[in-house]
Amino acid sequence: MKAAVCERYGPPEVVQVREVPTPVPADDGVLVEVMATTVNSGDARVRALRVPRGLKLAMRLRLGVTEPKHPILGFEVAGRVEAVGAAVTRFQPGDRVVASRGFDFGCHAEQVTVAEHGAIARIPENLTYRDAVALCFGGTTALTFFDLGKLAEGETILINGASGAVGTMAVQLAKHLGAEVTGVCSGANVELVRSLGADHVIDYTAEDFTRNGQRYDVIMDNHGNAPYKRVRDSLAPGGRFLMVIGGLGQMIAATRQKAVVSAGEGDSQMTADGYRALMALGGEGAMKAVIDSVVPFAQIVEAHRRVDGGHKVGSVVVTVGPDG
Ligand SMILES: NC(=O)c1ccc[n+]([C@@H]2O[C@H](COP(=O)([O-])OP(=O)(O)OC[C@H]3O[C@@H](n4cnc5c(N)ncnc54)[C@H](OP(=O)(O)O)[C@@H]3O)[C@@H](O)[C@H]2O)c1
Repeated sequence: MKAAVCERYGPPEVVQVREVPTPVPADDGVLVEVMATTVNSGDARVRALRVPRGLKLAMRLRLGVTEPKHPILGFEVAGRVEAVGAAVTRFQPGDRVVASRGFDFGCHAEQVTVAEHGAIARIPENLTYRDAVALCFGGTTALTFFDLGKLAEGETILINGASGAVGTMAVQLAKHLGAEVTGVCSGANVELVRSLGADHVIDYTAEDFTRNGQRYDVIMDNHGNAPYKRVRDSLAPGGRFLMVIGGLGQMIAATRQKAVVSAGEGDSQMTADGYRALMALGGEGAMKAVIDSVVPFAQIVEAHRRVDGGHKVGSVVVTVGPDG
């Protein structure tokens, strides 16, 4: 099979599409023919070893000291089950699924294996592979943080970085949960964020939300320029700060601040339950995929370039198989 292989940390050009052995499913494994995947901000961070301040050593130990431990990147796929191991009972060839191997990556490939009881869920009939995969990265992140931060109906939430993969899903999920949503993005994306359901949208080039006197029950930072110490006066009493991105100093400080919510790998809803929830929301139209661009697999380097720009709108989808 073909896979996008990244054997050293560096710019988009370190990624090369080439032949590698096709994986074989274990007895409890499911082999998925990949139709669509994404290059997301997590993939680009790993490829470039571009991590928040103070975390480089920890990330090298986690991801590979001198080169990526898992040279085929990619967090998620949408595809068709091609074969199953002898002990698999829940899936069969032909099923349409989304799946992830979490931090074992491996999704930038024509085929991928996932454990039957791992992060895999069926795609509803009314969702295309592209739409299904575009819901995954931002959707599971929003689910994870809203769950940890206990976002409740009737609360107010400000989402900084509302037009990226995480932000577009967070706006929609927060509205679905019954919150009053304020999105923050650049002027070019104001209308999009409003169309996703945001009640208010702030153009960060025209207004600093930390100086407008408003207070919110929850503030989510998806960009990294709104740390707790900058936004704490914009939190209502009992408010929570969702630190989707933050450096080592912020993480250490967070352990002393009750209001700060961060997530470890064990909290991630990149799980079967998380994907089932997202596919249900997508199927019933409560969450819509937001796709920045669609790039053929052979040009996956272009997808990495687009993600590196830091201003994609929603997800960059990479089409792999014939139905992608
Ligand atoms: N902790 C976790 O578990 C977890 C999970 C997923 C992602 N993340 C991290 O979350 C971050 C967001 O991921 P993503 O995939 O959504 O990234 P993305 O798609 O690249 O989106 C970036 C967002 O940042 C906005 N932005 C850029 N400059 C800004 C500024 N000065 N002020 C406010 N917003 C600004 C962009 O809006 P405009 O284009 O309108 O400027 C866009 O909405 C990444 O750093 C990623 O690594 C963490």
